[in-house]
Amino acid sequence: MNFESIDRVRPLLWNGEFLRILDQRLLPHQQEYIDCRSAQDVAEAIRTLAVRGAPAIGIAGAYGVVLAATKVSAERGQVALRHIDATLDLLENARPTAVNLRWAVQRMRAALSNMGAKWSSELEAEAIAIQAEDLAANRTMGRLGAECLIQGARVLTHCNTGSLATAGFGTALGVIRAGVASGRIAMVYASETRPWLQGSRLTVWELLQDGIEATLIVDSASAYLMQQGKIDAVIVGADRICANGDVANKIGTYAHALAAKAHGVKVMVVAPSTTVDMATVCGADIEIEQRSGTELTHIGGTAVGADAASIYNPVFDITPAACIDFLVTERGVIEHPDAEKMAEVFSRLSST
Ligand code: MRU
Repeated sequence: MNFESIDRVRPLLWNGEFLRILDQRLLPHQQEYIDCRSAQDVAEAIRTLAVRGAPAIGIAGAYGVVLAATKVSAERGQVALRHIDATLDLLENARPTAVNLRWAVQRMRAALSNMGAKWSSELEAEAIAIQAEDLAANRTMGRLGAECLIQGARVLTHCNTGSLATAGFGTALGVIRAGVASGRIAMVYASETRPWLQGSRLTVWELLQDGIEATLIVDSASAYLMQQGKIDAVIVGADRICANGDVANKIGTYAHALAAKAHGVKVMVVAPSTTVDMATVCGADIEIEQRSGTELTHIGGTAVGADAASIYNPVFDITPAACIDFLVTERGVIEHPDAEKMAEVFSRLSST
């Protein structure tokens, strides 16, 4: 596959001194990069969604660790770590639900604590490796996931799981890229993804950069399309996958999955093993991020609704393992995931 021609967008550019983040709050109308020169800058970019998507915030967090350590002088990694420990806590907790952020910062911590005199350059290399491994995993998953689809599949995706949300290529969107390139996918629907509009603002734009046309629908249209026999598979990413196969992903994923089950439509979850958290037993144990009510009442800074006395804005939901037909990671495809199958593939992984 000629990856370069079907995967052009890059959200995170490390130039050896600072991290350039494509500001996803401004897309699709403006393409501007923010220069993050400190771990605090990176944490703020993650918190405010300038960079978003589980793998992307993990990678940004890893570079945040590098930035935290730039002004530290220490003879070995363990000593450097002591200087930046509190800053790493700040980074790790910038958002709560996607486990990739915590995983990446913890991997950086563990690596740093074992480094000797050359810890500074080795720490940078570790962040670069995390980014490169993510891209490689996505390309593998793209192929594996596309092979599970019927020929001529019409697919629905939710949120943005593409290059913008990862090191490149994407997870669910990687399967869609690979499936379109191989001719297996005939039609792509993208749901707008209220309230932040990751689908309409990001997914549709990103696919267009690579010449893939997606048909935009409102989130609540998916059951109707399935009832009409217009969708063969729902393909989504994940922010955390538990030991029993339950999946936390963007709010609305569960509704798409329930509708899919009612209409015999396949549900595919695509995520790298860095999203698997074997230390979280089931979905009920995951902290679901709550964001500001203005995400509901305002669009692009303009008020669109009456003042509400109370607003509830959980931005992720839990899709039970029982709703999932295919769980695709770079380690392979698990059909109908459950605790036993998860343990077989991921027993060596833990988020701690
Ligand atoms: O709030 P966001 O935009 O960070 O949520 C992103 C999602 O829910 C994605 O589906 C998930 O992180 C997978 S991205 C490859």
